[in-house]
Amino acid sequence: MMHIHKYESAFMRLAVMTLVIFAGAIAISVMGLGVHLPGAVEQIDPQQVSADPGFAEPGLRRVYEGRYIAHLVVEAWQFTPATLTVPAGSEVTFYLTSRDVIHGFKVFDTNINIMVIPGQIAEVTYTFDEPGEYQFYCHEYCGAAHHLMSGVIRVVE
Ligand code: CUA
Repeated sequence: MMHIHKYESAFMRLAVMTLVIFAGAIAISVMGLGVHLPGAVEQIDPQQVSADPGFAEPGLRRVYEGRYIAHLVVEAWQFTPATLTVPAGSEVTFYLTSRDVIHGFKVFDTNINIMVIPGQIAEVTYTFDEPGEYQFYCHEYCGAAHHLMSGVIRVVE
């Protein structure tokens, strides 16, 4: 009996220790990184968006043939830039951040649908195979002119 009791208490100690370590790991990751929503990759001071080299001159940059990076500054009630043009077949990684309140970035005819939260840089990558005009808009209510927040990605032959 004594033997079993010892074994059980050692097991309990181990279980409690595991829980403590696990809770500690969660606490550290929440404190260290902030609570991240899907699509968010990096923290940024919403007051200092223009201090970030990517957002200082928002827009499209060609990395190499068929590969682009786009930085979009989002604020009430506009995307900057609101028009992007890429050749068909291009893979584009978008980085977006908000200067003020929560906005959204949804691109028609794609699976791009992310939240743009002040203080975070959201990232999403998509390959535009088909030529056409891909309208995008803000899908998080952000005030009086929310319904006017839109833009277009022109995918050309
Ligand atoms: Cu921005 Cu709705």
